[in-house]
Amino acid sequence: MRSIMNLNFGWKYKESFEDAFVENGFDDSGFADVMLPHANIELPYNNFNEKCIQFISCYRKKFPVTGEQAGERAILHFDGVMAYCRVYLNGSYAGEHKGGYTPFRLDVTGFIREDGENVLVVMVDSTEREDIPPFGHVIDYLTYGGIYREVSLVFVQEIHVDNLHIRTKDVLTENMKMEIDLHLENHSGAEKAIVIEFELLCRDESKLKFMEGGVTLAPGPSKLTFTKALVQKMELWDLQAPNLYHVAVKVLHDGVLLDECKERFGFREAVFQKDGFHLNGKRIKLRGLNRHQSFPYVGYAMPKGAQYKDAEILKLDLGVNLVRLSHYPQSRHFLDRCDELGLLVFEEMPGWQHIGDEAWQDVAVQNVEDMIKRDWNRPCVILWGVRINESADDDRFYARTNRVAKELDPDRQTGGVRNFGGSRLLEDVYTYNDFVHDGLNDALQPRSRIVKTDAPYLVTEHNGHMFPTKKYDNESRRIEQALRHLRVMDKMYRAADISGAIGWCMSDYNTHRDFGSGDRICYHGVLDMFRIPKEAAWAYSSQQEGSPVMEVAASMVPGERDGGVLREAIVFTNCDSVRLSKNGTYVGTYGPDREAYPGIPHPPVVITDFIGDLIEKNEGFAKNDAMLAKEILQAVVRHGDQSLPMKYKLKMAYLMFKCHLSHAKAVALYTTYVANWGGKSPVYEFTGFVSDKPVGTSRKGPADSAGLFAVADKDRLVEEETYDVCRIVLKHLDSLGNVMTLSNEVITLETEGPGEVIGPGQIALIGGSIAFWVKTAGKSGTLQVRVRSGRFGDQTLSFAVEKR
Ligand code: GAL
Repeated sequence: MRSIMNLNFGWKYKESFEDAFVENGFDDSGFADVMLPHANIELPYNNFNEKCIQFISCYRKKFPVTGEQAGERAILHFDGVMAYCRVYLNGSYAGEHKGGYTPFRLDVTGFIREDGENVLVVMVDSTEREDIPPFGHVIDYLTYGGIYREVSLVFVQEIHVDNLHIRTKDVLTENMKMEIDLHLENHSGAEKAIVIEFELLCRDESKLKFMEGGVTLAPGPSKLTFTKALVQKMELWDLQAPNLYHVAVKVLHDGVLLDECKERFGFREAVFQKDGFHLNGKRIKLRGLNRHQSFPYVGYAMPKGAQYKDAEILKLDLGVNLVRLSHYPQSRHFLDRCDELGLLVFEEMPGWQHIGDEAWQDVAVQNVEDMIKRDWNRPCVILWGVRINESADDDRFYARTNRVAKELDPDRQTGGVRNFGGSRLLEDVYTYNDFVHDGLNDALQPRSRIVKTDAPYLVTEHNGHMFPTKKYDNESRRIEQALRHLRVMDKMYRAADISGAIGWCMSDYNTHRDFGSGDRICYHGVLDMFRIPKEAAWAYSSQQEGSPVMEVAASMVPGERDGGVLREAIVFTNCDSVRLSKNGTYVGTYGPDREAYPGIPHPPVVITDFIGDLIEKNEGFAKNDAMLAKEILQAVVRHGDQSLPMKYKLKMAYLMFKCHLSHAKAVALYTTYVANWGGKSPVYEFTGFVSDKPVGTSRKGPADSAGLFAVADKDRLVEEETYDVCRIVLKHLDSLGNVMTLSNEVITLETEGPGEVIGPGQIALIGGSIAFWVKTAGKSGTLQVRVRSGRFGDQTLSFAVEKR
């Protein structure tokens, strides 16, 4: 029977490989205690030299194996080590691996000691070796270093399951079928008669024993294929109801169980056609974001908790239906959550623009194979990316990657991301990065300009470097970033022959010197590096159905805008209408701007009238005079008083004459209804309505500080395979509940109990907010996290830490 030993706690680590083996039996002095996932070095938030990540390090782990745990074979599983490693067990060389993004296994059967301590040593080379993708030229992201994903040791019998590939067929018909490839290993050196049992496990835990068969297994690896027609109709996996099933397999010999394992999968049909993407026979426009798997300070080294949260942010907060794993296979935990949430995935091989020599290409092809074998049962994955992102045509190389993909997984389509039109298409889908939008022009190129055939077409990146935007940039720039994403989406929705568009990108990320804003950050995210939304996040979140979204992209502080006047307030919302009041008095009700955005499901509400009929109500003007006064004030807002066109000057003169207005009174109209100087501080209240019912309110205007608010993503941390993490978001809010985007208060972080802060213990708000993660320390108990600020005092958050 199979048993799994997780090897994630209790590692020793050193930032060099010297003294990895010493004669006195692995002296631990000079080594630090670490847990996996681990980053070879903790980075500052920004302004570092990326060379500091690129070095060779040593990881060492001692563990006992008892006769009971041990099976006949021992296999080490590494989920991801950046970028090259050599592995030794008890002083013997066990193997090497090239490539930081795919898992690998090493059979260490002969090296295990069953009577005492085993010592595992891993030499990790995190330099940018030219023989390994994505290296060899420049890349616009960091690859970090270390054993940054989990490790385990799996004990199995001589005969065991190596992999399981579950394929569903004809899922939209009455004749649903399953085809299972069972990959078995027989190390016994002889033929063996075995019995195989399959069970289909449903969500409600009910089981369907559906196949059983006896075979004679030849020595070595074998692939057995089983086909089963399903009598019972299975529930489909889709975006709203991501129904998942398991197949459990048992391998027996003479009635003795040799191995057993289970794999999760779903029934769904996903296909790109010329007219777009179809899920279970229904056409769906793909609205997506690209994701890098990096986090502040620790780069890629984040366990399940953070990976899950990212998928939840994408699906539940940003409301996208697709994520592209740019530009490499990402954490299995992230993909698990995509399967569970119903979030579609475009997964691609590691690489960025550069194609290396033959040996490099061999590693790349191996990457494709390993990626597919890891994730081929996942219903969320709808497309394999089998080209190096934005590389040139290379028919020989890409014939190989396509062949491997099709041989391993004939039912899933391939794509390969290009940054030019008219490329040789060896894949099923033409996937193209369209950065044409400059804010003024048409938001996407017509498909016909890029691809001449009938191939399905998907825009895989847009915006990004075209408009880098920091969370603390001027309000108008932040809004323009949001509008650029919205315009591209709108164009995509209107173009019947574009399957979807994937924005660049989910969150800001650390990068190399050649890219970004000079501080080693690309500010291309709709979220910042801490996953805190910028206005651009609302372009996405407001497009979702279901829960109401109403985000007012305006502080209603005119001094933040050019000319000191507020020309418009944009409300990103999926509400039917937005009602505005000022200091409790109704101003007007405004609807979505379908004229400007005819394509997207939920155009924003653009409000340009903040006066409504307040002049008539408050000043005793006749209706027509009040309207004329408003027209003139709005013209002043548009043109500025110094450049007011003559016709408005004449209208002003007419109004002053007709209503006997003094110059002072005319000026007072401006200061009261436009500038809001002097009197009561204006509070604008925006209320969203769906089917005439109020569903959400947001209040805006100049306001005082209300304090620092700390909100944790969860209150319980659970250690399973390894440590758990939780994000805590800190926001300096004003008295109306809005982030004070220009605040940069300093905060000190302390912990007590089984856990610690990831990153520095003292941080400063960036654009009014920041977040940090805490991690558990291998023990259960209560973790207290204290957030201290000279200005706001202390607050303590408590977390229950549970060990499973
Ligand atoms: C693309 C590239 C991405 C990122 C993006 C920035 O060309 O594929 O990795 O660099 O530009 O906008």
